[in-house]
Amino acid sequence: MAERTLIIIKPDAIQRHLAGRIIARFEKKGLKLVAAKFIQISEDLARRLYAVHRGKPFYEGLTKYLSSAPALVTVWEADGVVEIARKMMGATFGYEAQPGTIRGDFSSSRGYNLVHGSDSLKSAEHEIKLFFGPDEIIGYDVADAPWLYGKND
Ligand code: RTP
Ligand code: MG
Repeated sequence: MAERTLIIIKPDAIQRHLAGRIIARFEKKGLKLVAAKFIQISEDLARRLYAVHRGKPFYEGLTKYLSSAPALVTVWEADGVVEIARKMMGATFGYEAQPGTIRGDFSSSRGYNLVHGSDSLKSAEHEIKLFFGPDEIIGYDVADAPWLYGKND
């Protein structure tokens, strides 16, 4: 099975009406959307998602920000999707991210950086389970797959 990653369109992206544009970038890249839910993430869940950062100076602000307003939580599937999505997101801080990346094009902030993406296959597996049960992730074929990925692969 192809790799999966968790991408969260964070509260600032929703408030700034950027969700569609961000989703469109992943779609155009040929990544397959396999799960989505629009929710206000609880503070407890935000704390669990970012548990690796517990104790760091930005942890409290980060978990408050993520749980402060609705977010769009999604799962995408493709070979190499974890790395592809991280490249498309750009560096963590908007003011450092390269133009052409999501953060580089739309964020000039430090922490308000529009998207979360899993940083490894292992964290993706863990993070997806925080938000989705197995029956909420949908396996299906996209009709244009041979044209997206090459007929000879
Ligand atoms: P993410 O987990 O959200 O995809 O971001 P990332 O891997 O690029 O960055 P990470 O180091 O995991 O940091 C998680 C989120 O914490 C906020 N942050 N603020 N004020 C600060 O110094 C600081 N450092 C990190 C950002 O919102 C970052 O996305
Ligand atoms: Mg991270």
